[in-house]
Amino acid sequence: MTDQKISSITPLLLEGKLVRLRALQESDIDKCLAFINDQEVRAFTGASYPFPFSYEEQMEWIRSQKSNFAKGCYTFAIDALKPKPSTEDDSLGRGACYIGNCGINVFNNVSRVALISITIGDKNYWGSGYGTEALQLFLKFIFLGLNAQKIELCVNDFNERAIACYKKLGFVEEGRLRRSRFVCGKYCDIVRMGLLFEEWQQQ
Ligand SMILES: CC(C)(COP(=O)(O)OP(=O)(O)OC[C@H]1O[C@@H](n2cnc3c(N)ncnc32)[C@H](O)[C@@H]1OP(=O)(O)O)[C@@H](O)C(=O)NCCC(=O)NCCS
Repeated sequence: MTDQKISSITPLLLEGKLVRLRALQESDIDKCLAFINDQEVRAFTGASYPFPFSYEEQMEWIRSQKSNFAKGCYTFAIDALKPKPSTEDDSLGRGACYIGNCGINVFNNVSRVALISITIGDKNYWGSGYGTEALQLFLKFIFLGLNAQKIELCVNDFNERAIACYKKLGFVEEGRLRRSRFVCGKYCDIVRMGLLFEEWQQQ
């Protein structure tokens, strides 16, 4: 590749106006554990992890993300760049605050389809655009950095905020698994949504 060609490449930024994506670290464990053991967060995510998730299980999960990386699976920590006044800690000491995770759960190398998930675990940040911006950065990384041709996700049918967020980004409903999850005493459908590369490009 010539120097001219290299200089014409736009780097894939993992930082926006509200959030940045970075590698999840072992030092994130306390908050990560609090997110996963929060009943309300769990209800929306449909997490199948044991409850309560223990410190040891959480540490094992964080460490396992590094080995999953070799299989094309990523987990990014999501930091809010300017913590909200209601958030008491600035755990990173750089004016940023860890608020959740997003990741590729499965990446199929043949079909080049990524199955993703996202959790803003700090509820102070729900409904203020943080999830949308984190996903915008993440989708760009997956399409342009990993050469995916499609991104898929699953969402509980009652999770209207998540569905609105995904539709805003161009995801469309592709199917429903009826009565497939039992959440807080009720069954719900799992909605399967997808976004093709060309659909994302056209936005
Ligand atoms: C889903 C999630 C990532 C969305 O991120 P977020 O920062 O809260 O969402 P955003 O503010 O970027 O966008 C949400 C959109 O839904 C809209 N919305 C919020 N509540 C809604 C509701 N009850 N019904 C319909 N739309 C709703 C908002 O108005 C916003 O749209 P707008 O920007 O056009 O106004 C985040 O809420 C989250 O992680 N929740 C807990 C775990 C979870 O649900 N994970 C997803 C599992 S599939």
